[in-house]
Amino acid sequence: MTCDFKNVLVTGGAGYIGSHTVRALQSQGFNPIVLDNFVYGHEYIVRDVLKVPFVTGQLGDRELLENVLSGRHPCCNNQKCIAVIHFAAYAYVGESVISPQKYYRNNVGDSLVLLEVIHSLSQIDKSNPIPIIFSSTCATYGIPPDNSKISENFPQNPINPYGRSKLMIENMIKDFGNAYNMPSVIFRYFNAAGAHPKCDLGEDHTPETHLIPLVLQTSLGRRPEIHIYGDDYETPDGTCIRDYIHVCDLADAHVLGLKKVLHQKEQFVFNLGNGNGTSVQEVIKACELITGLDIPSRVFPRRVGDPPVLVSSSENACKQLGWTPRYPSIEVMIKHAFKWHQNHESIV
Ligand SMILES: NC(=O)c1ccc[n+]([C@@H]2O[C@H](COP(=O)([O-])OP(=O)(O)OC[C@H]3O[C@@H](n4cnc5c(N)ncnc54)[C@H](O)[C@@H]3O)[C@@H](O)[C@H]2O)c1
Repeated sequence: MTCDFKNVLVTGGAGYIGSHTVRALQSQGFNPIVLDNFVYGHEYIVRDVLKVPFVTGQLGDRELLENVLSGRHPCCNNQKCIAVIHFAAYAYVGESVISPQKYYRNNVGDSLVLLEVIHSLSQIDKSNPIPIIFSSTCATYGIPPDNSKISENFPQNPINPYGRSKLMIENMIKDFGNAYNMPSVIFRYFNAAGAHPKCDLGEDHTPETHLIPLVLQTSLGRRPEIHIYGDDYETPDGTCIRDYIHVCDLADAHVLGLKKVLHQKEQFVFNLGNGNGTSVQEVIKACELITGLDIPSRVFPRRVGDPPVLVSSSENACKQLGWTPRYPSIEVMIKHAFKWHQNHESIV
């Protein structure tokens, strides 16, 4: 497969999941073009590590988007984009509660501009509409009614502005699909974890809020202790249970989703998780075992809105995309992440 006519716009491609997906696309003969404002992502990742064409800018910049998608931008080699993979978003739940306007403007407002540009360019060649693949989240499910595995048809009742912003974008994508035949894949991720086995890509968020990097940074002495929010949940060890999915497995699913929607121009929704739950205490113990280091922790009261158990049923993605997670073991995710953290002193 050559790279001609294989330009794929990757918004937020300098971030954690986006950068791993860019690499997966490159390995499958696609030509990813990253658009990122670098508010959270890292320019050196796209420039020096992935060596991918990139555009520095805001997703809501209509003219810039039109230039990139239509192939007029210098980084496009005169080729239009055949699809968009849309990761760009702000994703801090706590911040979204304090500054909802920032989340609705950035996540919803900018996504609307993206959909409008995709729609108007798709009018030029109606037989080849540009599909969008969108990063949604299990946060759109809110607090599930029970602890059973969550499938795509569970009710979606997000409980914070971040989750609501993602659900609004899902609905916009569905409405554009129904009205204008815009093909799409909505992926609802559970907890992304791990790092690329080559150890040159990893999770580098500032501030960091995700459990595994926080625990590993604590093991390396970069944080004094790990905070456990609630040890009195109705779970075997009293701490919350989550479904961790290796970031490379998420990246693989995006490539499979892209191929499917290019071929079958319809609308799809898939959960992406492992279908296995791991508790906060189990994550800490596994990190201690893998690092060989003691990890100090302290229990705090429960946080508002933390469900006891969030575990995915990803059967649909496995069946319909032929997706099989390559790294389902939490130990492997932690090993890859630890190797990356040992070599990258992120600002904490
Ligand atoms: N990390 C997870 O566990 C997880 C779980 C569920 C869903 N998600 C979703 O997946 C996506 C990627 O997550 P991530 O962890 O890689 O986040 P990230 O912050 O590492 O990456 C997001 C990237 O988007 C860029 N960006 C944000 N808004 C932008 C805008 N308006 N214009 C241009 N660039 C913009 C940021 O600079 C960053 O590089 C997000 O949409 C997030 O909501 C992540």
